[in-house]
Amino acid sequence: MDIFRTKSVEQSIRDTEDPEHRLRKRLTALDLTVFGIGVIIGTGIFVLTGQVAKETAGPAVALSFVVAGVVCGLAALCYAEFASTIPVAGSAYTFAFATLGEFPAWVIGWDLILELALAAAVVAVGWAGYFASMLESIGIPLPAAIAGDEAVVNLPAVIIVAILTAVLVAGIKLSSRVNLILVITKVAVVLVVIVAGLFFVKAANYTPFIPDPVSTPGVEGVKAPLFQVLFGITPVAFGVLGIFSAAAIVFFAFIGFDIVATAAEETIEPQKDVPRGIFGSLAICTVLYVAVSLVVVGMQNYTRLSTSAPLSDAFIAVGQDWLATIISLGALAGLTTVVLVLLLGQTRVLFAMSRDGLVPRTLSRVHPRFGTPAKLTVVIGVVTMALAGFVSFGELAELVNIGTLFAFVVVSIGVWVLRRTRPDLPRAFRVPLVPLLPILSVLACLYLMLNLPVETWLRFVIWMVLGVLVYFGYGYRHSRTGGARTGR
Ligand code: ALA
Repeated sequence: MDIFRTKSVEQSIRDTEDPEHRLRKRLTALDLTVFGIGVIIGTGIFVLTGQVAKETAGPAVALSFVVAGVVCGLAALCYAEFASTIPVAGSAYTFAFATLGEFPAWVIGWDLILELALAAAVVAVGWAGYFASMLESIGIPLPAAIAGDEAVVNLPAVIIVAILTAVLVAGIKLSSRVNLILVITKVAVVLVVIVAGLFFVKAANYTPFIPDPVSTPGVEGVKAPLFQVLFGITPVAFGVLGIFSAAAIVFFAFIGFDIVATAAEETIEPQKDVPRGIFGSLAICTVLYVAVSLVVVGMQNYTRLSTSAPLSDAFIAVGQDWLATIISLGALAGLTTVVLVLLLGQTRVLFAMSRDGLVPRTLSRVHPRFGTPAKLTVVIGVVTMALAGFVSFGELAELVNIGTLFAFVVVSIGVWVLRRTRPDLPRAFRVPLVPLLPILSVLACLYLMLNLPVETWLRFVIWMVLGVLVYFGYGYRHSRTGGARTGR
């Protein structure tokens, strides 16, 4: 049994030429940057900023964004090198297949399903929350049965996923246009927060910048970060440790730059443009996040920030309700693009897995007219609708973080492995200081993972065990790399 069989880089690239399974090449560096920003700026900045400032980091939340940004920057270097070497749909999954072998690739593909589908559903639920509150503010409250915490089915969340699925089926170029309009709105609103907010900043709100640590003995057992349980530390909030715990949570705000790599196969000049798209979107978002968080904690004392809509509520607190409404609208547009690109990334990863036969190949047939994997997109849309409509999420966003960080670890190791096994491959972008930077990237990601709660780890392990069972029950026997030729 050879579960570590690799698929050569050449074979991966050849597979993209198969006419029945070929995606159209339409995207440029600018499209990719916009896609990146579209998926990156979302719940993280619009919701989590308030929560972590209030509960974990205080005004130093801005430093947590810097820490998470640095961790992502290290991983981004590795993603950029990979995508410029193997411009094939599937991102981390494809990279792992070329370097570590089929089974590790399956594991990472399965892990990305967790990251992307779950994140899309989580953000769709967040979207529905903003939507309901917008409707309510104009006097049209939605019935409790279809919106809010007590809903039987979260109808707005289901509808937004359905609409975005249709957009994705219709074609990637259209998706990128819809995305462009929404991204412009979202960035404009973020700039409004920064510029208008500056007028209301009070220096007193910045002291203490790093509040003294307080112990939180109530956070124990499976709720406590694994790191604190392993080392027997009484859980604390604030202080320097608080900055790092908060970084593990606001990491969610950066998720998405990695998804740019999933669109490599549809890029006209992937070798140059994918690294540009990755770095461009990550850099822009990091600057915006640090600025927004500094402004928001300057507008309101961190102890009084709202945890559900901190940006707009900070403006309500200073008597600027009309600005708050504009910000809510921007959040709605912003969250729409996040769901769109998460769904896109999810279809492309599963597309690559299906083309390899690890999940049924019929799913990766490209629609003759639309040029997109229509069947697969619909399947994913329906599953996400079910999740968003019927499951209530809570801290499942942390599960998204652990899944993503795990993918970053594998990609960072993979870059180093591929340098050793295939030094001959042309690399349009090269990570400097290999192996030092990839090793630092692995350590930084592992450190953030350790800062996540024990229960998140348990859920993650259960999902992965399930994936191993599916691989040995189906994928191993149907793998094309393993020689299976069942054409369906
Ligand atoms: N980065 C995305 C967000 O903040 C997932 O919503």
